Amino acid sequence: MNAPSNMIKVAVVGGEGIGPEVTAQSYRILDWFAAKRGIPMILREAQYGLIPYLATGKVLPADTAEAMEEADAILWGATGGPETKEVPAAARKEGGLLSLRSKYDLYANLRPIRANPALADSAPLKAHVLKGVDFVIIRELTSGIYFGEPRGIETLPDGQRRGFNTEQYTSNQIRRVARSAFELARTRRGKVCSVDKANVLETSVLWREEVIALHAAEFFDVELTHLYVDNAAMQIVREPSQFDVMVTGNIFGDILSDCAAMASGSLGMLPSASLGPVDRFGRRKALYEPVHGSAPDIAGKGIANPLGSILSVAMMLRMTLDRPDDADLLEKAVDTALAAGARTADIAEPGASKLSTQEMGDAVLNALEKVAGKEREHA
Ligand code: IPM
Ligand code: MG
Repeated sequence: MNAPSNMIKVAVVGGEGIGPEVTAQSYRILDWFAAKRGIPMILREAQYGLIPYLATGKVLPADTAEAMEEADAILWGATGGPETKEVPAAARKEGGLLSLRSKYDLYANLRPIRANPALADSAPLKAHVLKGVDFVIIRELTSGIYFGEPRGIETLPDGQRRGFNTEQYTSNQIRRVARSAFELARTRRGKVCSVDKANVLETSVLWREEVIALHAAEFFDVELTHLYVDNAAMQIVREPSQFDVMVTGNIFGDILSDCAAMASGSLGMLPSASLGPVDRFGRRKALYEPVHGSAPDIAGKGIANPLGSILSVAMMLRMTLDRPDDADLLEKAVDTALAAGARTADIAEPGASKLSTQEMGDAVLNALEKVAGKEREHA
């Protein structure tokens, strides 16, 4: 039976490692918004990874592929870990995260970096460095060296082996992701920093030229600066509060976003959104996932931090569900829970008591009730 067309379809795919544990908490949050805030959505849970592979021979079985295909938004948990050894590389690749990004053309990967003042004591960087950190990395996600051909490992006549990959960008690929950055900057502090390695790489020379041309043609109201990637890595650690929106290619974005995770205080807190092109109905395919991976060392223990996933739901509320007030509400609830001392192990200061994954979910749900109640009083 087809769902009524005003219903927004969300596929919930926990995946592997700590993915299912953190996603279960986000599911409760989504449920809360459906029930308490009347958001018309249908949640469809689907499996990914080793478990469906053992049952069906596919990490991404037909049912999951269908759920993702029909979804307006996908909430993704995590994939990979030691379990991977039981699944042959080819089967992994077929339904892997990279092929999903490519299949849905999810070219704009948004990774917001915010340092929460409540976590200053457990963060690896000094409090004064983290002050005022609030920026977004937009990483190009469907091209560059991750997808360039030719690629491979070959044996040379002298018996040595040679590995090779191809870094590549077309002007359209550069312009569409740069456009996302300029448009986002207009809703924020109006600053874009484009990161490349134009002193060495032709792809980066083209990157910089295209970004400058687009800026001059359509976005002269936005402040545009450029950094080489090595310097950008240093600046992110030295003074992360200088950035508003940073835009870069696939592999630079991969590396810089892990680096920037430390400028937020904790990897476990970081959400992300991967967005496809806007279709003729004004919709765009979107996959939301925490930036942390499957963390096999703590999987199954119920101690993972669900806030990266929960904050990914906030991004979904804002960007797919078009509910900015609800997104603000959820972010406020997370801040409230943290300010009241709720900590999972990864963000606990020495001596603080540690919540389980489920208890952190409870803390956010309680805070949601509290914050929403206060809003009603003021209304
Ligand atoms: C990320 C991850 C992935 C990437 C891996 C798991 C392939 O590190 O999303 O940042 O390199 O893109
Ligand atoms: Mg990465």
